[in-house]
Amino acid sequence: MIEERNLAEKNLSGLFITFEGVEGAGKTTQIQLLKMALEASGKTVCVTREPGGDPVAEGVRTLLLSTEMSSRAELLLFLASRAQNVERVIRPQLALGNTVICDRFIDSSVAYQGVARGLGATTVQDLNRFATGDLEPDLTLLLDLDPAVGLSRQKTRNRMEAESLVFHRKVREGFLEVAANNPTRFLILDALQPADTLHLQIMEAVQIRQRAKQSQS
Ligand code: TYD
Repeated sequence: MIEERNLAEKNLSGLFITFEGVEGAGKTTQIQLLKMALEASGKTVCVTREPGGDPVAEGVRTLLLSTEMSSRAELLLFLASRAQNVERVIRPQLALGNTVICDRFIDSSVAYQGVARGLGATTVQDLNRFATGDLEPDLTLLLDLDPAVGLSRQKTRNRMEAESLVFHRKVREGFLEVAANNPTRFLILDALQPADTLHLQIMEAVQIRQRAKQSQS
């Protein structure tokens, strides 16, 4: 069984990149810059987001971002959205050899639900593994920022963004903790830097991962 799964993962030749960070850290700008740069170098790029990614997951997103619910129900809905996005969008694209960029993924659940909501990082990591069938990003770019700065950049706020500053500070700590525990997968970036400086740092990290992935296949 384990051998079969390893074989399946080897067939995913595309590079899987995720962006994480507190609210207002500038993920959207960096994702667009990265997509354009990779496409200019001849890559086919699929950009997806969580919660969301396909019609079912987008339906779950609408519910999640608008409706008050229990923390456990919230976690399970984020995971339902992720399971759908992985099976219907991310794995098929990676199997075609395309690059997938996902705006938030497993680490958001660990930081928001595991740490800030207090459900426990280990519990969330275990459930994440079930939801994704053990799929992990090749590279995770953490745009690190004081959440007070990030929130002040936002004009409107959804249900999660409307949480207290204390909550968002816990989210930031959660991200930094998971990054410290996964140093080879993560690159932590100071999100206060100018967008073009951040883009150069991101491109360097992506190129290193691209070369490593090519040498694996
Ligand atoms: P969104 O508007 O997409 O925020 P952003 O542009 O900052 O990514 O809203 C998604 C919200 O859901 C955001 O506040 C982070 C939160 N979230 C979780 O709490 N857990 C998760 O697993 C994911 C993927 C997102």
